[in-house]
Amino acid sequence: MAEAGSFADRVKQQADIVRVIGDYVRLKKSGQNFTGLCPFHSEKTPSFAVHPVRQIYHCFGCGVGGDVFSFVMAIEKCEFPEALRTVAEKCGITIPAPRALTPEEKQANQQRGELLEMHRETAAFFAQQLESTAEGRAAHAYLEDRGLDREAIAQFGLGYAPSSGEALCRHLSQKHPDQLLELSGLVSRDPGARLYDRFRRRIMFPIASESGKVVAFGGRAVGDELPKYMNSPETSIYSKSNVLYHLDRAKEAIRQKDFAVLVEGYMDTITVARAGLGNVLASCGTSLAEGQVKLLSRFTRRVVVNYDPDTAGQAATERSLAILLEHGLDVRVLALPPIGEKRADPDLFIREQGAEAYRKLLEAAPAYLNYLIARAQQMDLTTGEGKLRAVNFLMPYVQRVPNRLLRSEWATRIAQELRVDEPVLRETLRRAAADRRGEVKAKPELMARAAKPAERRLVQMLVEADGFRDKLARELRGGELGELYKGLETERVFAALVAACELGERPDPAAVAKTLPDNDRRLLFEIVFELPAEPTWNEAESCLAVLRRRRVEAELAAVQKQIEAQPVAAAAPGGTVRPASEELRRLLQHKHELHRRLAEFPE
Ligand code: UTP
Ligand code: MN
Repeated sequence: MAEAGSFADRVKQQADIVRVIGDYVRLKKSGQNFTGLCPFHSEKTPSFAVHPVRQIYHCFGCGVGGDVFSFVMAIEKCEFPEALRTVAEKCGITIPAPRALTPEEKQANQQRGELLEMHRETAAFFAQQLESTAEGRAAHAYLEDRGLDREAIAQFGLGYAPSSGEALCRHLSQKHPDQLLELSGLVSRDPGARLYDRFRRRIMFPIASESGKVVAFGGRAVGDELPKYMNSPETSIYSKSNVLYHLDRAKEAIRQKDFAVLVEGYMDTITVARAGLGNVLASCGTSLAEGQVKLLSRFTRRVVVNYDPDTAGQAATERSLAILLEHGLDVRVLALPPIGEKRADPDLFIREQGAEAYRKLLEAAPAYLNYLIARAQQMDLTTGEGKLRAVNFLMPYVQRVPNRLLRSEWATRIAQELRVDEPVLRETLRRAAADRRGEVKAKPELMARAAKPAERRLVQMLVEADGFRDKLARELRGGELGELYKGLETERVFAALVAACELGERPDPAAVAKTLPDNDRRLLFEIVFELPAEPTWNEAESCLAVLRRRRVEAELAAVQKQIEAQPVAAAAPGGTVRPASEELRRLLQHKHELHRRLAEFPE
């Protein structure tokens, strides 16, 4: 991102991270660093640190960290360009005019602008149809019957697509060329090459981008026709997996309440919002996508999932849980009780039981694992097979709990609630954990400790040692045994730093961190924040010796394994002993050589 010489790079050079962060967090000098209470998780003692020399911040509690831009992006919940502008302004740096666009970019921009305009006109057209045509008025009556008054209809911009199949086309083609109509996803071409309306005889829900521009529509059949809902296709202004229905209006409430309610449908969203919970969202006609989770997590990390209680809704809940958990969100699940015989979606529930009853249930919504255990308990637990199914259903979710202690508590609870033998369950859990090791996030405060002192010091030297950084990087690249950091906890951190050194510059920890997965970033930052002593080559040598020795030992272990895997030298017919194979001889010699090298290391 902050490419050398770019404007972003200049801002970063000139910006004082302590001052910028100091606008948001009360920082106190502590040794070489500044510390304060982390603004990204709640805490009573400071574990949030800012490194004025390296221009990075890091929270030893929750593990967030990065440079001045990523801080502003996270705290202001904005994208990079906005963060760049904010930082530049705070530091009194003038922002240059954007570079000229290429003709293609200009054309694409212009086209997107026109498509947005077309969607705006279309929303107005549909709204007007709902008010002023006979068909529309019937749809209006249907909506009123479902509890939506005039105000709600206006608030959510609902409309009606007439049944003729050409009303919208005719309306739009007064202003826009056919080719653009087709690109909008609002019209289709029949076999006779005539354009016709994609949405006919449907109640229309405008879908807006985060900034509130209509980019697509969802359309509900008025009667029982199928499909019940139809949605806009992907277009150059609409990417399904990156848009959440109602986010444009919900984002303020989400920030304020610091949680979001996730429902399945357009009607659910509207009813929940009308019940005073403006922080409600829906994914539009698809199951929750990764892009949508990322989008949402810019506003809050806490979500209550409230899908329909039918089988499809349950399956969707469980799929969504998986990706929400994967992104580290704090998830609760609200499963609404049936009303009489009827399964209740949020819309129906609120209409029948009222907003207050809904809010109460929402507040009491259980953490996702409680919900899942309840689900597992509905399975047949009378047979061993049934119990196994229930355990297998739960296991993947338990595995996503990042904290080992919590995971262990869950294992005990599952054992009790499903009445399975705890040691057996733990064994399953342990094996499952081994299968996905590396994916499970280690407890952040244990990260740096997992790396041995010599590794830590060398990582630090790669950042700090201006005098011999290149030489050190070359040594670490290693000789015939390969990289000295191969197989270490810090392997990826080393690889990234060494690669950065090879570009001939002092590596910028924040830039290097961007190329690393979360865990490795934490590791790197924690090491960078450790108290530095002036690095010397002597010290580097002794740390390198530790790594070299470990490399040789690892190699020795590998050779030993290969030797053991060789076919046993058997007595050949005739009583002579068959000579060891060429391969075995080579291995033995290599082993001998490694032993010799090991002996040369000082104790
Ligand atoms: P539901 O079938 O639960 O509809 O689908 P609903 O929201 O309760 O609608 P009403 O109350 O009957 O009017 C939930 C969501 O799934 C998507 C839509 O986004 C819908 O809001 N969906 C459903 C489709 O995309 N296509 C369909 O055919 C059905
Ligand atoms: Mn419904």
